Amino acid sequence: MATLGVFDKRCFQSEDKVIALESDLDRQCCFNFFSRLQGSLVMRVSQSGRVSRWLTYGRSASSPIASYWRVFVPAVSLLALTAAACNPSVRPMNTFAPESDLAQWILGLYLQVTAWDTLIFLIVLVALFLALFVFSTRVGEAAPPASASSDLWLEVAWTVGPALILLFIAIPTVRVIFRTQPPAPPAGSLIIEVVAHQWWWEFDYPALGIKTANELHVPIDRSLRLELHSADVIHSFWVPELGGKRDVVPGQTNEITFVANVPGEYLGQCAEFCGLSHANMRFKVFVEPPTEFSSWTRHQLSGALALGATNGSVSHASEIAEGQRIFANSPCTTCHMIAGISAGAIAPNLTHFGSRTSLAGATFDNTTENLAKWINDPQALKPGAKMPALGVRGDQLSDLVAYLESLK
Ligand code: CUA
Repeated sequence: MATLGVFDKRCFQSEDKVIALESDLDRQCCFNFFSRLQGSLVMRVSQSGRVSRWLTYGRSASSPIASYWRVFVPAVSLLALTAAACNPSVRPMNTFAPESDLAQWILGLYLQVTAWDTLIFLIVLVALFLALFVFSTRVGEAAPPASASSDLWLEVAWTVGPALILLFIAIPTVRVIFRTQPPAPPAGSLIIEVVAHQWWWEFDYPALGIKTANELHVPIDRSLRLELHSADVIHSFWVPELGGKRDVVPGQTNEITFVANVPGEYLGQCAEFCGLSHANMRFKVFVEPPTEFSSWTRHQLSGALALGATNGSVSHASEIAEGQRIFANSPCTTCHMIAGISAGAIAPNLTHFGSRTSLAGATFDNTTENLAKWINDPQALKPGAKMPALGVRGDQLSDLVAYLESLK
């Protein structure tokens, strides 16, 4: 016996059936095919060490079932591990934990389609198994009798079957599309204008006169109609637990309509590549009971400047006042709005900045340390950020931070 180059010891397992192959290429192809199939191709080598014959697999060779198990068991284990990683408590952005009517409908659709796919997969698997092990001819056996050139009923079956399955998938899909994209907002909807910018989100409540950024507050159990606009390139609005992605396209208004069912804080993310900080274009959605939402709106409508001045502790009052003076005389006013101080409109509205939980497109927690780092060097925290580093340092920086954080 001798081994042949790349071939391993499995080549010598059994000798039950023989194929004579003409060339090295045939041997290589034959080995590759059968070894992938079940790893039991065998060969015989002459006394002189020369390969004289090749033996193909037979049912008596190392069991094909055993080979399948070698693949099947690790594959199932891997799937189980992957499923375990989908625990909702570990992954906050989870489409399998729907918390709105829209997300529930989409998950229902996904499960229906998956059920049909599974059925098709099983049918194909059974057909493949039958073709390989029941209706196949092995070496040495007579060729099967010639079959009829066509079978009308078989052809009807494989035409009508897939058409019906497509129909079963199409009907609920179209139904969910129409259900989730009504041409007019349902009665009593809260309309929110969403404007996507590189790389942050603007949320305007036209009926309430509120404008905020990166943190969307909405009431529970009320129809929400989000009208999506883009200020620059294509983005995509996506809160996995509240509904599917919807593209935000320049020059076009797309809508997304849903009712959030469960109070809580949800993470959102731009889901369309939109430039350097696409991954940092995040946002939060706070779903609140009606009373909590009303108090948030009242707070947003109150004058932040007066609140900032009065809310600052006595020890910080002078820093806050100095910070306000620095802000009012800085180029920040060109881009940012703070009611009563500045009217910039191309960057997030900072009127109630101190009451937000996050900054820089909801990428960092809103802490004095993070805010100081952000003002000092925005590009270091968020590559490509449009906000320039203005060179505010030392006491000026800490005063500015104290002022912005006082804007509750
Ligand atoms: Cu905006 Cu990606």
